[in-house]
Amino acid sequence: MTADRNAHDRLSPELLFPSPRPEVESLHAYSAPLEGRRQMLRLDFNENTIGPSPKVVEALRAIPADHIAIYPEYDGLKEAVVANLGLPLQPDQVGLFNGVDAAIHAIFHAYGDRGETLLTTTPTFGYYTPCAQMQGMAIEAIPYEGEGFAFPLERIRNALQGAPRLLLICNPNNPTGTRLAPERILELAAAAPQTLVVVDELYEAFTGDSLLPLADFSALPNLLVLRSLAKTAGLAGLRIGFTIGHAAVVDRISRVTGPYDINSFAVTAAFAALNDQAYVDDYVAEVIQARAWMAEQLRAAGVRHHLEGGNYLLIWPQGDPAAVDQALREAGILVRAMTGKPLIDGSLRVSIGTLEQMQRFWAAYRRIEAIPA
Ligand SMILES: Cc1ncc(COP(=O)(O)O)c(C=O)c1O
Repeated sequence: MTADRNAHDRLSPELLFPSPRPEVESLHAYSAPLEGRRQMLRLDFNENTIGPSPKVVEALRAIPADHIAIYPEYDGLKEAVVANLGLPLQPDQVGLFNGVDAAIHAIFHAYGDRGETLLTTTPTFGYYTPCAQMQGMAIEAIPYEGEGFAFPLERIRNALQGAPRLLLICNPNNPTGTRLAPERILELAAAAPQTLVVVDELYEAFTGDSLLPLADFSALPNLLVLRSLAKTAGLAGLRIGFTIGHAAVVDRISRVTGPYDINSFAVTAAFAALNDQAYVDDYVAEVIQARAWMAEQLRAAGVRHHLEGGNYLLIWPQGDPAAVDQALREAGILVRAMTGKPLIDGSLRVSIGTLEQMQRFWAAYRRIEAIPA
């Protein structure tokens, strides 16, 4: 028995399990949030830092036990999204997904073929690249420009002439906060009808730059917007996100998902959250106020930072960023080190929460970096 096991261990791993597709074999798993975040002040994943509306919690508590035993039902949820947006959209223009991550995965699955190109920017949200790689796509990632990380509009416009299959724009961009006027995105989409132009609007509530009020999806069926209840409504743990666009495109993307990918708890929570927009609006207003306060402290203290859109900003510590990250962690505060990210290596991305939370962060940061009061 022992001898057999030793022989088994000596075999190369490839012989022990069936090989996946080559694209999957060379893929690095997307790094998910670390464990043990619950007791900390979490300024590392741009989540809502105070939790969802009490009405969401109430609705979840009221779920009867038999609802757990049956498959989820989605009746009326697309209509509720449309009503929440207050725009002249039809329910079939809304796709429902198990978080925007799942929507992104489905978009690549439905539209990205081997050898085709994903055009995007860098640095940007980290999940676009692995999704392109798993399809065997080529990636053209154009850097943000200058000290202010401006959107590389001319270079994107030129690259669109090569007819990439997909263009992914995160607006405002995570992590640089870069904003692009919706009118410019409409122009890009109009100039590239063969490219599906996906606009990730996860953080638009913090800028008000949404494309949706302007978009005419019958004129521009190659335009698709992503929205989520994770960052503002506080449902990140339940996983629910939306695609909004031309009904035919939304339908094709929905074809590659499973029939019950969104669970019943997320559905119940989504109805309650969509019905309590006032809670979200109040939270967003509080974050915007805290963001302005934080920027003022950094400016007055002469700390290099960058803030544009979104509920996050970048800070460049004087000390070793890994050591500052660790010292903050020891003080019970999590931030995200941008180690190895093009253009912003050496910075920390700090999510913005309430004023009180940012005051706590700033007190700890000042102590660690020895910034005088
Ligand atoms: C730009 C961007 N898009 C998508 C996602 C994923 O959103 P969801 O939680 O809805 O899957 C995130 C989460 O960090 C994000 O920052």
